[in-house]
Amino acid sequence: MQNNRLKSPSQSTEKTHIRQLGINLNQWYTVARSTEVQTQPLAVKIWNLAIVLFRNSADKINALEDRCPHRQVKLSHGKIKGELIECAYHGWRFNAIGECAEVDYLAANQKLPNCKIRSFPVKEKSGFIWIFPGDETKAEQIDLLSLPEWEHLNYIATVAVIECQAHYSFLIENLMDMYHGHLHEDLQAWANPVLDTLAEDEHKVTALYQAESYYKIDKIWSVSQLFFKSLRQLHPEPLEVSYVYPHWVSTLGNDFKIYCLVCPVSETATRAYLIHFTSLNAFWRLHKLPVWFRRFIKDSLFGAAQKLLDGLVRQDVLMIEEEQQAFLQNSEIKSYELNRALVSVQRLIRSQAEK
Ligand code: FES
Ligand SMILES: [Fe+2]
Repeated sequence: MQNNRLKSPSQSTEKTHIRQLGINLNQWYTVARSTEVQTQPLAVKIWNLAIVLFRNSADKINALEDRCPHRQVKLSHGKIKGELIECAYHGWRFNAIGECAEVDYLAANQKLPNCKIRSFPVKEKSGFIWIFPGDETKAEQIDLLSLPEWEHLNYIATVAVIECQAHYSFLIENLMDMYHGHLHEDLQAWANPVLDTLAEDEHKVTALYQAESYYKIDKIWSVSQLFFKSLRQLHPEPLEVSYVYPHWVSTLGNDFKIYCLVCPVSETATRAYLIHFTSLNAFWRLHKLPVWFRRFIKDSLFGAAQKLLDGLVRQDVLMIEEEQQAFLQNSEIKSYELNRALVSVQRLIRSQAEK
């Protein structure tokens, strides 16, 4: 299915409501975690494009249109056969570039059907599968968002999935507006943010808030402040949030970093991955231990902040979906905004959608 607002770059989207804008397809989007793609094909969706991911016998990820050209059923119901993906219905097999490569019942006088389906540039990096849904000749010119902490032995990761029935702009605005900490109360690591500086260019909006944080991981027991409010002591800490189109990055002081990798599924659905990193930088003795042991610690503590992160996501999703519902019921109703960061965010969404 095509979004008609995306059809022609020359078409003006000037009057399109922010909640109905398309996306810039010429970007890398995260569609799955690496661990989600094992021995079975996986169906994913990005901006109404149905895509099947499969890992071939050499462990390489491929991405094809999720459609068998024979009878238009989903290839994701099929199986992997070596380098190929085999359709469940009549067993036609397709290669990594979407060509029909084998049909078992092909008669001696028949040729393989010339029925190529679309393949997508795909990469596996930092624990995620990234797809470039736009003009594939541009894929290599565009960088993936880098997550150096994913591999770094000093960082403990937790991943939460955000599934919301809402336009992606609601999610990005939620992430860029730190005044919504009101919603999270005890669940979040900072308090009393005040927007300080705002910077924007055609790829990025960065908002720097001055905030207070209780979060400081410098003793082995520091982590207990996450769970016991009485152990928390607030100190001033800068809180920086950036919309690095189409994803989001935030840092709070030195020990805390969160990424949100966004996959807009349709005009009213968004999937995203929230990745929280806690640093162990303060534990300098740890750095002298053998690498295998440090990796063991990193892997064992993976997901340490899961409950906290899932709790935050639940609260946010409820609000975001209500915003979408209110918009669908009455798109004319006027909202009021005090945070100037959101003006910049909307400007970036619009200019990228128009590209
Ligand atoms: S529908 Fe896929 S092989 Fe027939
Ligand atoms: Fe939130």
